[in-house]
Amino acid sequence: MERLDKMISSRTGLSRKEAKSALSSGKVTVNGVVTRSSDFKVAETDEIILDGRKINGKAHTYLVLNKPKGYVSATEDPSQKTVLELVPEELMRNGLFPAGRLDKDTTGLMIITDDGDFAHRILSPKKHVPKKYDVTIDLPVTYEMEKAFSEGVMLSDGICKTATLIKTGEYTALVTLSEGRYHQIKRMFGCFGAKVTELKRLSMGGFSLPEDLAEGECRELSDEETALIESR
Ligand code: URA
Repeated sequence: MERLDKMISSRTGLSRKEAKSALSSGKVTVNGVVTRSSDFKVAETDEIILDGRKINGKAHTYLVLNKPKGYVSATEDPSQKTVLELVPEELMRNGLFPAGRLDKDTTGLMIITDDGDFAHRILSPKKHVPKKYDVTIDLPVTYEMEKAFSEGVMLSDGICKTATLIKTGEYTALVTLSEGRYHQIKRMFGCFGAKVTELKRLSMGGFSLPEDLAEGECRELSDEETALIESR
């Protein structure tokens, strides 16, 4: 726990005297409540707002969502439900967006952030952050598919980067991609006349969808978890 005037001064560059003056003029809220007392004790987890600006906590927000079917990967949409509607009110911030798209009928791991550089790093094909999917198709998974995925499937917008396909059942496979083109997995299996009937993203980089995160649930990532996304 830390004194409020001290914490304001260390986070903003205001002197202790200026911090005290901001407090006494009612410009500071702690967890939504105007707080005027300089020696009020605050914890790391308290939300401190000065003149409408959050001054403590991380500079950026990183959330994990277990995306259910029926939501589009957009910040707003005139007619459809968006993944941002699943962000709990207390985690909602200006500037949040889904880092990468999952189709409306795809489920699983989705990262929501307000950090554009981070999103670019985890999505850029040049960075090779692998994304693993659990896939079910309507035809048996074949060795030809596995071979073609590992060599690079040719789609209408060019050849895909090499991908891995591990057969896990007659109709199921784990597929790992290091790029994210429009409907990529559906189109890759489409080359074999197969239709994807279920698609769930399981991991990005070294970070896996937490087992205790139910479909539709969204929570903040720890620093360690955020870093895992960029590690392999
Ligand atoms: N590939 C697809 O076809 N759809 C997704 O949502 C993700 C990868």
